Amino acid sequence: MNLQFPDGFLWGGAVAANQCEGAYNEDGKGWSTQDVAPEGIKGPITEVPTDNNMKLIGIDFYHRYKEDIKLFAEMGFKVFRTSIAWSRIFPNGDELEPNEQGLQFYDDLFDECHKYGIEPLVTISHYETPLHLSKQYNGWVNRKLIGFYERYARTLFTRYKDKVKYWLTFNEINSILEEPFMSGGIYTPKQDLSKQDLYQAIHHEFVASALAVKIGHELAPNAQIGCMVLSMPTYPLTPNPDDVIATMEYEHKNYFFADVHARGIYPGYMKRYFRENNINIHMEPEDAEILRHTVDFISFSYYVSTCESGASSQLGESEGNLMGRVANPYLKTSEWGWHIDPQGIRYVMNMFYDRYQKPLFVVENGLGAIDKLITNDQGEKTVEDDYRIDYLNDHLVQVAEAIADGVEVIGYTSWGCIDLVSASTAQLKKRYGFIYVDRHDDGSGTLERYRKKSFHWYKDIISSNGQTL
Ligand code: BG6
Repeated sequence: MNLQFPDGFLWGGAVAANQCEGAYNEDGKGWSTQDVAPEGIKGPITEVPTDNNMKLIGIDFYHRYKEDIKLFAEMGFKVFRTSIAWSRIFPNGDELEPNEQGLQFYDDLFDECHKYGIEPLVTISHYETPLHLSKQYNGWVNRKLIGFYERYARTLFTRYKDKVKYWLTFNEINSILEEPFMSGGIYTPKQDLSKQDLYQAIHHEFVASALAVKIGHELAPNAQIGCMVLSMPTYPLTPNPDDVIATMEYEHKNYFFADVHARGIYPGYMKRYFRENNINIHMEPEDAEILRHTVDFISFSYYVSTCESGASSQLGESEGNLMGRVANPYLKTSEWGWHIDPQGIRYVMNMFYDRYQKPLFVVENGLGAIDKLITNDQGEKTVEDDYRIDYLNDHLVQVAEAIADGVEVIGYTSWGCIDLVSASTAQLKKRYGFIYVDRHDDGSGTLERYRKKSFHWYKDIISSNGQTL
């Protein structure tokens, strides 16, 4: 098969500040929600940061980013996705003036990327709400968050307008449905959170996201600003119409997020859901106009597909990064129980493009696996990660299929291009990288970096623009 990726396709990798930077209390940084979640997304929250929290040191990217970006450049990266830690810029989130040391760090980081011709792709908020905003305001439930986020986004666009072209407003914005604390900074425990408060918080995020698009376009005319959703194609478990309708309704809950970002209005199916669940979203008069500032592109993560059934309550749930419904009997799973479905990425890309006709950006995809560091015949330390190569290869072939289907795609950034701390389980043994980092869940390790077999494989993919897949 002749796989065609467009000229100028942005090949690269992705990380998030809280999962790699470490330096959780350096240079004026405030605490974020991540600093008190030592066991990851589903674990307990502590009062203060505790030593068992792997993210406090992460992979020490804050101090080693030059070495890491040099390795990304060696692979030929055209783009590097990272996030800005909100609490480095506004330590509590509600200050009037930003923290200059935090701003300087990202200036230096972006300069380092440009030194190698790597375009930064920046997530404004990636699961790291300043803790103060979570505890004092209950995160996005409170409308005041819109103003704090707007000030933060304005600060970033003003400062980095000449260094950053591609922006994402919120990471996996739909994950708030499952993880209100990590995704939305909502301090109320999930089991006590009303649907009213949850969807009000979502509305506030929509308005904030659209405001970021508006002010981003004003302050940085070359900026391309996208939403970012957790994509999880959902298949009916059987052709039973009950399963098909249950699937449609489940998908609506997720498509809702991209629909509002791409179309600027609330879809009818959500209005129905609100009516039937006694949810009354409070909107200020200006909100409708703000929402019309729609995104330039749709970005998404893709790891798993899932199934839905009209009788799903009696069926086994599948694992997912944050979400997941009924297990698919045709698919194998990863060591963490995530379904592996390369064709799902082609399917979901077609769905998004058919729905919006906006360019897509694949900003996360990858395999979390246990790696074994070995010394090869040349005496180099490495990992023979053929399983990761197979996973990525199979998915990229399907990205090419989607391109052949006519889908417009800006680029592809594989998740965790360097090993980092996992979001769901806060483990380092769940490795995604092309680069092995010598750090372990008991806190031991030298933090040395080693090229895995996949490092060389990805380098070839990039230099051939996908021809070696
Ligand atoms: C996505 C997140 O949900 O999946 C990332 O945007 C996360 O932050 C990634 O790391 C992989 O999930 P995990 O739990 O394996 O780290």
